[in-house]
Amino acid sequence: MENFIFHNPVKILFGKNQIVQISQEVPKDKRVMIVYGGGSIIKTGVLQRVKDALENDVVFEFGGVEVNPHYETLMRAVDIVKSENIDFLLAVGGGSVIDGTKFIAAASKYQGDPWDIIKSYGSVVQEALPIGCVLTLAATGSEMNSVAVVTRTETKDKLFFDSKHIMPKFSVLEPEITFTLPKNQTANGVVDAFIHILEQYITYPANAKIQDRFAESLLNTLTEDGPKAIVNPDDYEARSNIMWCATMALNGMLSTGVPVDWATHMIGQEITGLYGLDHAQTLAIVMPALWTVCKADKSAKLAQYAASVWNIPAEDESVMADRAIECTIKFFETMGLKTHLSDYGLGEEIIPVVVEKLKEHGHINIGEKQKITAEVATEILKLAL
Ligand code: NZQ
Ligand code: ZN
Repeated sequence: MENFIFHNPVKILFGKNQIVQISQEVPKDKRVMIVYGGGSIIKTGVLQRVKDALENDVVFEFGGVEVNPHYETLMRAVDIVKSENIDFLLAVGGGSVIDGTKFIAAASKYQGDPWDIIKSYGSVVQEALPIGCVLTLAATGSEMNSVAVVTRTETKDKLFFDSKHIMPKFSVLEPEITFTLPKNQTANGVVDAFIHILEQYITYPANAKIQDRFAESLLNTLTEDGPKAIVNPDDYEARSNIMWCATMALNGMLSTGVPVDWATHMIGQEITGLYGLDHAQTLAIVMPALWTVCKADKSAKLAQYAASVWNIPAEDESVMADRAIECTIKFFETMGLKTHLSDYGLGEEIIPVVVEKLKEHGHINIGEKQKITAEVATEILKLAL
């Protein structure tokens, strides 16, 4: 196991009727801005519940944060924060809303060009407004981590930044809120969380037993309960397990002391930025192809995963790795996600465009062994056609 520092200060309020607790978490003298997306929280009544719970005198609302939040929209919110002296942000939504709120929190306190925050991967961030979250979609883990992903539409740049200053003060996780998700968003969430675990687990052995066994328990939970939530959206137990799983998948625990990959996310992000596929859709396409191309480096962990998650009997490591890849593709398809670019009408012509964006963003020599060059990324995308 490698050296690590682990510090996660986010307070989690999990279970039924937790929204009422936010009055205890948001200081009463704060001028609050509720940030939300395209309006699902109005239809489901969650916005009203949040407003009823808050005991602050000044509460602004900023709606319209897009899926894959747009820098341009978030900058409009920053203007309002500054002109109205907002000093607490409450994100009510999925990963896009929470990420967008994180950017607003950092940009509102930054003196220079706000795009520097993204360009520097967050290193220029010295402070941010405090954030609270009410999570409505189990997927990204943004509710308990220090990362945000923002898209600049004019240049089709979808990029992440990371800063300890944007970690939420608290996050409300009410599994019942996710009952109203459309099937495709439930599926996207399960697959995104599943792939977050795999990005931190399918690398090479580091004798990190806790992290490996924790990853396996989370993966097993998603394979068991993911399909249940698709068949029965009101299954409280399944929704609870999925929600806590997605949060634990990307709150820093799994990556302690182990090598991590993240190349699937790097490549997938470019596809979303350029062609607008949902985040999880891109991952389900890229990961199986990436594993096939990088199998030699990953086969020990793929074989371990085959045995621990898919109950594949012990045999030749390479054969077990192949079986693991097959089972993973089948799981994505069972959840309703496609696994090829051509399923979305995308062909060979996109490959040089995606690879060019990777180069532009300096995302070459990626993966746990930094072996995924522009040429290897091309090979992966060809296999994903
Ligand atoms: O916008 P509204 O109207 O709220 O509708 C949303 C949206 O259309 C809807 N929705 C959310 N909760 C709902 C609901 N509909 C009915 N009932 C509910 N309870 O679902 C749609 C998708 O929402 P979105 O927030 O975009 O989904 P998700 O949580 O998957 O977030 C995706 C974003 O997070 C980023 C992705 O790149 C993408 O931009 N990620 C953030 C990460 C992080 N911060 O650590 C890591 C991830 O790898 C990922 O990159
Ligand atoms: Zn993801």
